[in-house]
This record gives sequence, structure tokens and C-alpha cells, in this order.
Amino acid sequence: MADQAQGLRALAKQAHLEDHLGNSALVTPYPAARTIAVTSGKGGVGKTNFTTNLALLLAQARRRVIVVDADLGLANIHVVMGISPTYHLEHVLRGEKTLQEILISTPGGVQIIAGGSGITELANLDHAQRTRFIESLSELDHLADTILVDTGAGLSQNVMGFVLAADEVIVITTPEPTSLADAYATIKVVSRENPGTRLHLVVNMATSEAEASAVYERLSLVARQFLHIELDYLGYLPQDATVSRAVRAQQPFTQFSPGSPVARALSQIVDRLGYPPARPAGVSGFLNRISNFFSGRK
Ligand SMILES: Nc1ncnc2c1ncn2[C@@H]1O[C@H](COP(=O)(O)OP(=O)(O)OP(=O)(O)O)[C@@H](O)[C@H]1O
Ligand SMILES: [Mg+2]
Repeated sequence: MADQAQGLRALAKQAHLEDHLGNSALVTPYPAARTIAVTSGKGGVGKTNFTTNLALLLAQARRRVIVVDADLGLANIHVVMGISPTYHLEHVLRGEKTLQEILISTPGGVQIIAGGSGITELANLDHAQRTRFIESLSELDHLADTILVDTGAGLSQNVMGFVLAADEVIVITTPEPTSLADAYATIKVVSRENPGTRLHLVVNMATSEAEASAVYERLSLVARQFLHIELDYLGYLPQDATVSRAVRAQQPFTQFSPGSPVARALSQIVDRLGYPPARPAGVSGFLNRISNFFSGRK
């Protein structure tokens, strides 16, 4: 175990040195990774497709991106990517593998940590298991400049543990009133539990730009009025049959049809994400917060 830990530290250090010494072709403006959780109140609003394709566009812009599939109930980033991972988060939680050992490099330049379906509540893991998992997340810090975390929907502990630990949160909603109400519930919890978090909104499956803007205006108004926070508008993705065609072909839509309306809209969202961010706390901040959350100190 000591040998393994030493090996991991050496690996992280080596990656860090390579960043600073040799690898000038890569864009590495951050001292630590920017951790962004993608979440929603209601399920099925497009989080997994959004996260996967956002990661690919960031990788095209020469960012080093790791996507963590943190939907512990129904992990399916690998399905959207069209890959079949041998190892996933469950092996890490069981202590059989480290995160580095399960990192998968994909042709688009994105690395992914596949989730396992039906994983026990993180909050139910014993202390040793949780510590092992959280420690292993720290090793990702020097391996990426952006870590995107695709979460499940809703307000369960498994979802909120990841959401509250991230530096930034992208909340996805569709224009449907049920989705909006659930998005507001998520925004409310994040702003109450973690007032410093930068909260972004993306409206998915909109029929027009005007409809999406109206959705943002409504949500930002109530957020300002009742929660006293400013919601950042990242933009919208149109309702586009390309997404479902791409899913059926097991290809991310940005690769399946780069010129499609949905892929073009996502490029604009990448521009609005605005690198560099105001204050990246990196994985170490993420780790402390996730550790505090699950040990009840939050
Ligand atoms: N912009 C879009 N236009 C049309 N269909 C879309 C769009 N975005 C997503 N979809 C469809 O919505 C379905 C759900 O998408 P996805 O799996 O990404 O949602 P999710 O929020 O991750 O779901 P879950 O809450 O189950 O994790 C997909 O089958 C996809 O075809
Ligand atoms: Mg999903």
C-alpha cells in the first residue's frame, strides 16, 4: 500500500513537472483543476449528453479534461461515448483499483472515469472506503485542468455530495415547468449550503433562443428575489433530433454531426464558460468539501 501510494505521488509529480517543463503545446493556465459539476433537479434533461460533448469540445481547445461519471445509480457516460470499460468506480470503492488505473483515454482526447451502476450510497461507505476514494481523487489534480462531474438528478446525498464539493455547478433545465421547479430546488440547496459556488444555467431542448432566454429570466428573477444570488446564463441547446440519432449510433453528437444546430450551440456555451475562472480552488478544495459533506461536518 505504501509502495502504491508512493508510486501515485511520483506519477502526479511527474505529470506536474511535464506541464511546467516540456509540454508547452498544452494549455495549462491553472495551478489546479477546475471542477465543474453538471446536475439537474429533474432526470432525463440531457446532463450526460451535455457533459460528454462539452468535454470533447474542451479537449479540442487543448484542455486536459477528465469526466467523472458520478451518477452512481445509472452510470452511462461510457454508453454515450461508445466504449465498454472493464473497470469503473465500483472497483475503486472496493479498493481493488486506483482512479489512475481505471482512467480511460478516448479517441477525442478526453479521459473518463466510468461509473458503476447501482453503487451503494457514498454516505454509507465505511470510513476507510470513503477515505480511500477521496484520497484517490486528489491524484487527478495534476492530470487535468478541468474535471467535469456528471451527476445523477435530484437532491439525494449521492448527488449533492458531488455538487456541493465542486467549484462551479452547471444546472440544466428544459423549458418544462416541472423541470424548472426542480432546477430551482437544486439552486436553492446549493446557494444555501455552499454560498460561494458559481452557479450557471443551461436551458436544454429549447424550441427557440427566445424561449430559452425567457426560462433564464424567470429563474434568475426568483433566484435574485428569494435566494439573493446571481445566476449566470451559459446559453441554451436547441431541441435537435441529432442528439437521439447520435445516442443510437453510440457517438457523441459533436462527433456524429459537428455542424448540427446542437453542436454549434454548444460551442457558444464553451466560449461563455470563460477561461480562466475567477478562483479555481482545484481538487484539493473539492476533496475537503466532499470529505466534510460525507463525514457530517458540512
Ligand atoms: N438538445 C436535445 N435535443 C433533443 N433530444 C435531447 C437533447 N438533449 C438530450 N436529448 C435526449 O434526452 C435523453 C436524455 O438525455 P441524457 O441521458 O443526456 O439526460 P440525463 O439528464 O443525463 O438523464 P439522467 O437524469 O437519466 O441521467 C436522450 O435520450 C437524448 O436523446
Ligand atoms: Mg445522465
